[in-house]
Amino acid sequence: MKPARFFTPENLQIVKRLVSRYPPGQERASLVPLLDLAQRQHGTWIPPSAMQEIGNTTNLSFEQVFAIVLAYPTSFQWRPCAPQLRICDSWMCCQKAKQRDNGIFEAAQSIASQYGVEVKTTSCLGACYGAPAFWFNDKIHTDATKETIKEIISKEFT
Ligand code: FES
Repeated sequence: MKPARFFTPENLQIVKRLVSRYPPGQERASLVPLLDLAQRQHGTWIPPSAMQEIGNTTNLSFEQVFAIVLAYPTSFQWRPCAPQLRICDSWMCCQKAKQRDNGIFEAAQSIASQYGVEVKTTSCLGACYGAPAFWFNDKIHTDATKETIKEIISKEFT
C-alpha cells in the first residue's frame, strides 16, 4: 500500500517550485522553506509524516530532517497560539521612533492587552527604510505610528 502523502495537492505544487530553485543534487537547500510550508499546512508543529515526505523530497534521512526541526524548537515544534507583534528595537527604528516621539511600544502594549496579542521587541527586520518597523502575523509593516498599529491589530480581530 502506498503511504498517504502529507502535502495537499496545492502545496505539492509549491514543494516542486521550491525544490526546483536549486540545482539537481542540492535539494536539501530547500529544507527550511519546506518545513515552514509543512508547519503552515499543519497549523502548529510538524508531524513525522511531513518530515518523512520532506526527507524523501530532499534526499535526506528522516533523522536529518528531524535534527533540523529539533535545532529550531521555537520555529518548528510549535507555533505560538497568541498572535505575535514584534517591534524593531534596532538603532534606526529607535532613532526614528524617538524623533517622532510616537510611543509605539506603549501603544502596542495597550492595544495588545485588549486583543491578547503578545508584544516583544526584535532586532532589525530589514525594513530600516521605513523605520520604525514592526512585524505582525508574518508581515512587516513600516512607518509605524500608534494609529497604524491600532488599525492593523484591530483589523485582524474584526
Ligand atoms: S532598524 Fe528597524 S528595521 Fe532595521
